Amino acid sequence: MNIILLGAPGAGKGTQAEKICEYCHIPQISTGNIIRAAMRDGTEAGKKAQEFVNAGKLVPDAVVIEMVNERLKQDDCKNGFILDGFPRTVPQAQALKEMGVEIDHVIDIEVPDETIMQRMTGRRVCGECGATYHLVYNPPKVENTCDKCGHELIIRKDDHPDTVKDRLQVYHEQTEPLKDFYKELNVLYMIEGDKPVEEVTKDTLNALGVKSALEG
Ligand code: AP5
Ligand code: MG
Repeated sequence: MNIILLGAPGAGKGTQAEKICEYCHIPQISTGNIIRAAMRDGTEAGKKAQEFVNAGKLVPDAVVIEMVNERLKQDDCKNGFILDGFPRTVPQAQALKEMGVEIDHVIDIEVPDETIMQRMTGRRVCGECGATYHLVYNPPKVENTCDKCGHELIIRKDDHPDTVKDRLQVYHEQTEPLKDFYKELNVLYMIEGDKPVEEVTKDTLNALGVKSALEG
């Protein structure tokens, strides 16, 4: 099953991708996580991306498309994958099509901008594996420590309120048009994301036709 998660910054793409991974046993491919790892490791792509990410702008299409193309060739993608944060522009969606990738489901997580601004101040992410938490809505079991790999949680540089505003604007201008792109292909499913994490997961798994322990 090949899945795309669409939605504004902070809509819960990463959070839901982690849940889908658990149920469907397919990898989460987060371009944000890949880019942050490249920046941390100081690779050429990471250096190119840095100024864009820190300003809340999109990294140039060619850089991200190359990263995704490489990632999708890996063995663990054979039975499907969850794209979290890609595509983000119409040219990226077209590039995905040109790679010969068939998409089964596009889940669009809808959250109002005001809710997003509140969520971002409480977000913490694992500096090592990229797992996502929230101080109030999705806290780690041990304070400031990743449940998955035990590393320290950090605040993302681009979660400053001014940068979040810029990211939201970029989303509305460049990413929202993808809803129409995928609606035309009859694979778009809209989910109300302004609900507790577990409810959003339930709706998402339902949309994917996946039976889960959360059902009922
Ligand atoms: P990326 O890392 O993809 O950031 P984003 O799209 O801005 O999305 P976020 O990760 O901020 O939000 P999310 O939807 O994953 O929400 P989360 O689950 O964390 O990209 C970062 C940057 O990299 C971009 O700005 C760009 O520069 C670059 N980039 C990445 N991909 C690119 C591409 N394809 N092309 C070009 N550039 C690219 O949830 C947010 C918070 O809310 C968390 O704290 C979470 O715990 C909490 N939360 C989640 N769900 C709920 C809920 N239901 N109720 C309450 N709280 C919740
Ligand atoms: Mg994310």
